[in-house]
Amino acid sequence: MLSLVEKLYETHDLTDEELINLIKSEDSEVSEFLREKADETRQKYYGKKVFLRGLIEISSFCKNNCLYCGIRRDNKNAERYRLSREDILSCCENGYELGFRTFVMQGGEDAYYNDEFMCGIIREIKNKYPDCAVTLSLGERSNQSYKRMKEAGADRYLLRHETADVELYKKLHPNNMSLENRKKCLFNLKKLGYQVGAGFMVGAPFQTVENLVSDLRFMQHLQPQMIGIGPFIPHHDTPFKDEKQGTLELTLRLLGIIRLMFPKILLPATTALGTISPTGREMGLKTGCNVIMPNLSPVKFRKKYELYDNKICTGEEAAECKGCLQRRVQSAGYEIVSEKGDCIY
Ligand code: 5AD
Ligand code: FES
Repeated sequence: MLSLVEKLYETHDLTDEELINLIKSEDSEVSEFLREKADETRQKYYGKKVFLRGLIEISSFCKNNCLYCGIRRDNKNAERYRLSREDILSCCENGYELGFRTFVMQGGEDAYYNDEFMCGIIREIKNKYPDCAVTLSLGERSNQSYKRMKEAGADRYLLRHETADVELYKKLHPNNMSLENRKKCLFNLKKLGYQVGAGFMVGAPFQTVENLVSDLRFMQHLQPQMIGIGPFIPHHDTPFKDEKQGTLELTLRLLGIIRLMFPKILLPATTALGTISPTGREMGLKTGCNVIMPNLSPVKFRKKYELYDNKICTGEEAAECKGCLQRRVQSAGYEIVSEKGDCIY
């Protein structure tokens, strides 16, 4: 098994069968060797740098009904909110002060944020902060809409594919959503010149190791600039409330594999990873991650953007988030930098 890690490190690829074996292995010696190789690769291209992305959760309204998600339409207990133009700009102002040079506007699929609204705010942010990147994470929209927002100045788009397996996709989403459209959106975004982020949840209900290999193959095909993965965590008001959460071990294993397969990728240590273990993000950083996406949303709204249970950084401690992060990143042996942090290819 150690030789598989060696091969992946050198050739950035393995056969399906080899990948399955590597993902399945529970040998701690393999995990440690994979971690070392992933860290070596990350340091070769990015040194000790950790890039920050300021996450602004603009809306908890969503027209979709994904079975895993806490802000799905049918969750009548979810409290809904929308950030105004002024709210969003004040998050950016605060974030800029703290050294953030990327702002991510993320939200449920909410028609309130039409092209006119989005293009206006994108222009305004790019005008005020020409040295910053604007990232969008607003789900599936028309090619026309993606094009307008790109022309208004948006640089990047995050849209996890969620799973590259048609059958699993259907088990995680209602009938009116399709993997085909999801993929079409991702390829449209790439073609329009966005730097694109794809990704999936680890340990989602019904997910098999073969499904995970499909995810890796799909991303080899798409060649995104960022890959966002985190453990699935059940939310108490969803159909998946009694499902098991994804494990720390499997998530770290996939992070290591992804770093070796995509040596120059931007790889966030996600909030979900920090939620299933108090030092999850630190372990992610040591296993190839080079991005952290702290929450910049106004504290009073944070608990309402609850995709899964027990999400961290939503309470009182949030005000001191920058200091907390700084200590965490340093304790793992890395350093936060105040850069846009574009992908290096
Ligand atoms: N557990 C973990 N991640 C989740 N997401 C949505 N719901 C959950 C959950 N219950 C992820 C999805 C989505 C991203 C914004 O959050 O992958 O793309
Ligand atoms: Fe946000 Fe610690 S990282 S409060």
